[in-house]
Amino acid sequence: MGYSGWVSDEFPEDTVRHVIGIMKETGDGLLDGNIRVLKKTGTANDRKQHLVIAADGGNIHLKIFNNTGIAAVLKDIFRASKARKFYASNFEIRKRGIPSPDALFILEKRMLFLKFSSIIATREIEESTPFTGHYKAWVGTRPEKDRLNYIEEIARFIFKLNSSGVCHADLLGNILVNAGGGRIRMYLIDNDAVKLFDNLTRFDYIKHFEGFYDYFVKKAAVSREDWETLCREYLKMDKSVSDSVEGITQHVANRKNLLYYLKNY
Ligand SMILES: Nc1ncnc2c1ncn2[C@@H]1O[C@H](COP(=O)(O)OP(=O)(O)O)[C@@H](O)[C@H]1O
Ligand SMILES: [Mg+2]
Repeated sequence: MGYSGWVSDEFPEDTVRHVIGIMKETGDGLLDGNIRVLKKTGTANDRKQHLVIAADGGNIHLKIFNNTGIAAVLKDIFRASKARKFYASNFEIRKRGIPSPDALFILEKRMLFLKFSSIIATREIEESTPFTGHYKAWVGTRPEKDRLNYIEEIARFIFKLNSSGVCHADLLGNILVNAGGGRIRMYLIDNDAVKLFDNLTRFDYIKHFEGFYDYFVKKAAVSREDWETLCREYLKMDKSVSDSVEGITQHVANRKNLLYYLKNY
């Protein structure tokens, strides 16, 4: 069993070796003078694990996909590992100007052509919170203009994805927000779930609104008014669509009925 992969030029290879050492250990805690496990979810028996490690230069997020069971190992002979998919899409995403954490390294744990797990290491976005936990709390304590400003940033983020042909299958849960200094900055994560296109179709652009509709309207976590503001702000930016707020709402609300989605996603 060995590890192979890619390491960013700026990232010390020694640290990669230490990280591999950490993954071989079962316990937490101090493993090396400079490297410490801060957080750990899941075990090697789970399909997905997360580890946060403190190292020189800042915290590192490790996302580990395990092929648990022989069927998963066999399947992965014929397809790229999650880490490899991430590798392929991540650089393209950044090239297209979408803010995303720095990729530090990816690894595949393998024996010959059998892949047992794959690992994605990214640099932590400091003081960031997933959007779903952030929005409500943040706007709840701010004046009205800050709320509008936040919604504009969401619209701009969606527009940026759409106009660059980046389609994320699970957008809402994978936006990290940093609101340091009052400015809203958004980052795309979970980039192994991204599909890249030259141009997004009408259905793809609406796809990115789905999670927001569920969060703002269906779960009534926010309000219908904020949802409508989001659509309105988006439509101001995207001159390529001639939809109305009601149009977007209807498409998103009725999406389960659209065969198109069943075929494509
Ligand atoms: N580079 C990063 N910086 C800060 N937080 C991160 C980073 N990568 C992941 N996280 C945190 O870990 C969580 C899970 O990561 P993610 O890549 O979305 O995996 P999952 O497939 O489990 O959703 C995120 O919601 C975020 O809170
Ligand atoms: Mg995620």
